[in-house]
Amino acid sequence: MPIVIASDIVNIKPWIDALKKTAPSVEVKNIESVTDRNVLEFVLAWNYPHGLFRNYPRLKTISSMGAGVDHIMNDRHLPEKVKVVRIIDPLLSQDMYEFTLAVIMDRIRSLMHYSDNQRSKIWKKRLYLRISDINVGIMGVGRIGNHIALQLQTAGFRVHGWKRVEGAAKTCKMYHGPGQLKDFLAVSDILVCLLPLTHETEGILNRKNLETLPQNAWVINLGRGGHVVDDDLIGLIDSGHLDGASLDVFRDEPLPTDHPFWSHPSIQITPHIASLPSPHSVAPQIIENYRRTLENKPLLNLVDRERGY
Ligand code: GLV
Repeated sequence: MPIVIASDIVNIKPWIDALKKTAPSVEVKNIESVTDRNVLEFVLAWNYPHGLFRNYPRLKTISSMGAGVDHIMNDRHLPEKVKVVRIIDPLLSQDMYEFTLAVIMDRIRSLMHYSDNQRSKIWKKRLYLRISDINVGIMGVGRIGNHIALQLQTAGFRVHGWKRVEGAAKTCKMYHGPGQLKDFLAVSDILVCLLPLTHETEGILNRKNLETLPQNAWVINLGRGGHVVDDDLIGLIDSGHLDGASLDVFRDEPLPTDHPFWSHPSIQITPHIASLPSPHSVAPQIIENYRRTLENKPLLNLVDRERGY
């Protein structure tokens, strides 16, 4: 049985190389080259066309190529019996932390502002904030969120987190559920959204919730574009309640060229780059799940299909 890749990633060669290096005897194929539908039991997927897996009678497992699984869970034609697994990788969490730190430091030392001034040859100093001045609110404290919270705390930030359901707080002061969301937002000078995209979290960064953030707060969205109600965010920046936002993810990617985010002076855009899975780092867990699939054993990093992540 081969590992079959179904993804919109332009260059999948590094994935094939990493899987072959980890398990030289395993065949790795692109889905386009699969002619016999019965050979497909284990798929590695990223942003495949929905409905693709309707007619593969032996398909057992779909492994996301990243931490997020919304691109799979949103497939209305996903066969019911298929199990979904995701990537959990310390390197991915560390990459997310490094990106978060870079964005926060850029904000508190006004680097984006000085880049703008440089273009107009403006020499003008601005007061800056210190790490110890900042309350960072982490929205979505799972594996990645926990790591980021811990590292930011170690760097000297005051950190607190919000989780949809109650769980053991490993690192920072925690708020839970819809009932404590307002209190959490009210103390978040910088809000970092890392939530998975589900029916419950879709549009969570809406006017009502964003208004609860302190005056001059900054929003960093590293979750999914669907968390943000775009017009509400722009409205609250334009009204002066929020200072701005750093957005790495968007409802439509690539972000359409006519989207107002592109030209907004207080919105910083990056092209979904906060973390890119390293094929070499994640290949062993993919191979392990491939083997477990063939042996009908319990899978690693299994997604709860009911919960959606
Ligand atoms: C990236 O967005 C991922 O889900 O890994």
